[in-house]
Amino acid sequence: MGFDAEFLVIGHRGAAGLAPENTLASFRRAVELGVDAVELDVHVVEGELVVIHDDSVDRTTDGTGALKDYRLGPLRELDAGDGERIPLLEEVFEAVPGSVGINVELKGPGSGPVLADRLRDDGRAVLVSSFDRQELREFHTRRPEVPCAPLHHRLRPGMAAEARNLDAWSINVAEGLVDRTLIERLGAEGFPVLAYTVNDPARATHVAELGAGGVFTDFPDRIGRR
Ligand code: G3P
Ligand code: MG
Repeated sequence: MGFDAEFLVIGHRGAAGLAPENTLASFRRAVELGVDAVELDVHVVEGELVVIHDDSVDRTTDGTGALKDYRLGPLRELDAGDGERIPLLEEVFEAVPGSVGINVELKGPGSGPVLADRLRDDGRAVLVSSFDRQELREFHTRRPEVPCAPLHHRLRPGMAAEARNLDAWSINVAEGLVDRTLIERLGAEGFPVLAYTVNDPARATHVAELGAGGVFTDFPDRIGRR
């Protein structure tokens, strides 16, 4: 469990294909299905880390509007699906057993420094990732002991150099980018490649055979450890 399995199965936004994404119900479902870790997305609202993917509430709740225009109280009254609320990050840490890893993806402005300030070392495996290099670097500068990972949605030159520079633990890439060359090239530099988002079991098997370090999936019921 955590991030030490040879091939990681990471529940994307919990078990986003089976329960409302980024809610406690979703994280619990993923845990029941035996994931090694759960992935979630965080933004800062009134100094708190809230677990939501978009910078607007429109897609995932019964509310409307930009996250930045919300106070915490009204935000937490919204229905995030099946009566679930938008969780605070600390609520997820309480709900998910300590043996299950948590991948916190920094999304919103200021999320790096706020997470660095809030994250307590309780022995749980944590991986911090982001597309936003400024947030990731601000987190890493403050908390260099916590493993981190740059995210990529397209290939670009210098991926390994950048990861080395961040002391990254892994490099997390869109699954369409994954092939043997990429995995071998980054693997030779010491970086496992984690692929998001893989929902087809045959594709997961293929990605595992190519040597990837693991997958993020919306359906941990379909994707078991290879
Ligand atoms: O961290 C993997 C994946 O979650 C990145 O993309 O848009 O689903 O947050 P997104
Ligand atoms: Mg994410």
